[in-house]
Amino acid sequence: MITPINLKAAAILGLLGISSLSAQEATNAGAKASEPQPAKLLIDTKDPVRTFNRMFAGLMTEEINHSYDGGLYGELIRNRSFRDHETNAEAWTLTVPSNAVASMAVTDRFPLTDKLPKSLDVVISKVDSNQPVTVSNEGFWGIPVRPATTYQVTLYAKGNNTWSASWNGKSKDTNAQLPLFRYPLTVSLESGDHSKVFASAKTPPLTGEWQKMELTLRTGHDVIPSKENRFTISVAAPGAFRLSLVSLFPPTYRNRPNGNRTDLMEKLAGLHPAFLRFPGGNFVEGDNLSDRYDWKQTRGPLEFRPGHNGCWKYRSSDGLGLLEFMGWCEDLGMEPVLAVFAGYSLKQQSVSAGPLLEPYVQDALDEIEYLTGDAKTTHWGALRAKDGHPEPFRLKYVEIGNEDQFDKSNSYDGRYAQFHDAIRAKYPDLRLIATMPVKSCKPDLIDDHFYKTTDWFVKEFNHYDKLDRSGPKIFVGEWATMEKPAWKAGGDKRPNTPTLHEALGDAAWMCAMERNADLIEMQCYAPLLSNENPGGTQWKPNLIGFDAISSYVSPSWHAQEMFNTHRGDEVLTASVEKEDPANPLPYSVTRDRAKGLIHIKLVNVSSYPREVTLDLGKETEVASKADVVTLTYEDPSAVNSLQKPDVVKPVAKTIGHASRKFSLTLQPSSLTVITLNAK
Ligand code: AHR
Repeated sequence: MITPINLKAAAILGLLGISSLSAQEATNAGAKASEPQPAKLLIDTKDPVRTFNRMFAGLMTEEINHSYDGGLYGELIRNRSFRDHETNAEAWTLTVPSNAVASMAVTDRFPLTDKLPKSLDVVISKVDSNQPVTVSNEGFWGIPVRPATTYQVTLYAKGNNTWSASWNGKSKDTNAQLPLFRYPLTVSLESGDHSKVFASAKTPPLTGEWQKMELTLRTGHDVIPSKENRFTISVAAPGAFRLSLVSLFPPTYRNRPNGNRTDLMEKLAGLHPAFLRFPGGNFVEGDNLSDRYDWKQTRGPLEFRPGHNGCWKYRSSDGLGLLEFMGWCEDLGMEPVLAVFAGYSLKQQSVSAGPLLEPYVQDALDEIEYLTGDAKTTHWGALRAKDGHPEPFRLKYVEIGNEDQFDKSNSYDGRYAQFHDAIRAKYPDLRLIATMPVKSCKPDLIDDHFYKTTDWFVKEFNHYDKLDRSGPKIFVGEWATMEKPAWKAGGDKRPNTPTLHEALGDAAWMCAMERNADLIEMQCYAPLLSNENPGGTQWKPNLIGFDAISSYVSPSWHAQEMFNTHRGDEVLTASVEKEDPANPLPYSVTRDRAKGLIHIKLVNVSSYPREVTLDLGKETEVASKADVVTLTYEDPSAVNSLQKPDVVKPVAKTIGHASRKFSLTLQPSSLTVITLNAK
């Protein structure tokens, strides 16, 4: 039942992408040659057989494609703690006027804290008072500047009268070469070529000790939105100073401190998600045990978060840490689905069940206590309160590991049982999710992943229909249509987000899942977010694309929005009379009993129109006016993009000929949602 994929392993081996996959190729891969027969859908409006779990549709997230750093997490400074590279000040540039002499280097001689040991040494031995030396940060592929906007700057700085061995290759410090630097720093938002200064402010004078400086930068009303900008620190006095934890935040969603980017949060909110599965995905596992998601390193003040090597080829600041995930859930009214590290990392490092696994089990118990424990009576609950959230969080779901079918040592059964028993004993009400079937005990849910073609999803429309209902419930914790797998040659050259044709595969799969809502307790698409800059994305396709200043939603986002806003609470039985085997008709019929609405979703992946008759029998009255929303476009290979965000979008209309039995024509390559008033 579990689909065996090893995307991360493939990515590590460099198997991604040598030839190109165009949108057209992506579409042709699943195109239908034959014209579909007219179809009749028989709908039984009597007793519904299945009801929806209120957690049915949610979001899945991890640090992939710069989803957080350079994405959802509001921070605009890249490499703010100088830890992205051992010795290079990546993303930082020193600009020295021709008549000045200056240098900069990353050093670990004066740590800000034990978790942030690196800082940036800037030494200015000669400078004119009217031509400053500038240290600038390029941000994550630019820094967004908008009119009439207030930005929060926080940085640590200290003056210095020595320079470090690393900057000029000297073997030991050279004391008192320069007077102690006691000047203020000028911080600004500037255009990339330094020709425009959008906002500027001065710190207090530096001292010989680390000082936390907090400033605001406010742009003018006449500023034109742009992203080709820099954050700069300018100095027009000789001396040496050191910088650490340099941070710049724009306004965040709901003004949450250390919060999230507004446009992306709004797009996520638009899907009405019931839950958030985090922090992975492969990100929870890490390449090696030492790179696992170690939640204890992601909490508390930013000064004490070291960050870690993510598994998607870049370092994670962990500024969006455990508590921030929970804030994200609170902001969108989602329930957390917490994945805990379960003793297996991607490069086949697994910890055998038994005493060696015990510390990891304890970490998971501590994590659950941190989220749910009482602030007065539990150790970790008290720390959560100290971190700013006295109220315990609601937590119902815990997933143990991720895709453990790839563990070649086959240790998951034992590892799962050890976690399961320890968590169950202390938290009997939690619903526990296994990442593959296990024999040792019965999980509440199994997480099932699917990355398949449109054709596959259409053909497997009945995938769950006959599955035994006596086993664990199903959590489809990752699914997405991809005409070319991300981990195969060419997979990286395709469009960044799904084509319309792929969105129809997604719609077919959502029909399959909705129709089995008694078995499928929860489901979520993956991956969610992707930074579209060169090098920003490691996986395609993704639901939402963005750069430093703008974002757009894909046809698949629209399909999901259409499903999530037309669901109700019950699944009605339906069947197609006389199937056309070459052209199955994916459908789902659901009802909102209180409102008396019946929602019918129909998918036509073929390039022909298709006539469908809806027959609701004699049990119910149907009003003649009905709402119809259609997602289609003349070219099924069409995608949305940053440049053209609205190529594929749904169109709503009202029809006047609905009744107990009526016909309509589905457009070629379309998802259609019909809402009937049927009290
Ligand atoms: O969604 C991308 C990756 O696919 C996830 O990290 C992993 O769980 C799966 O293999």
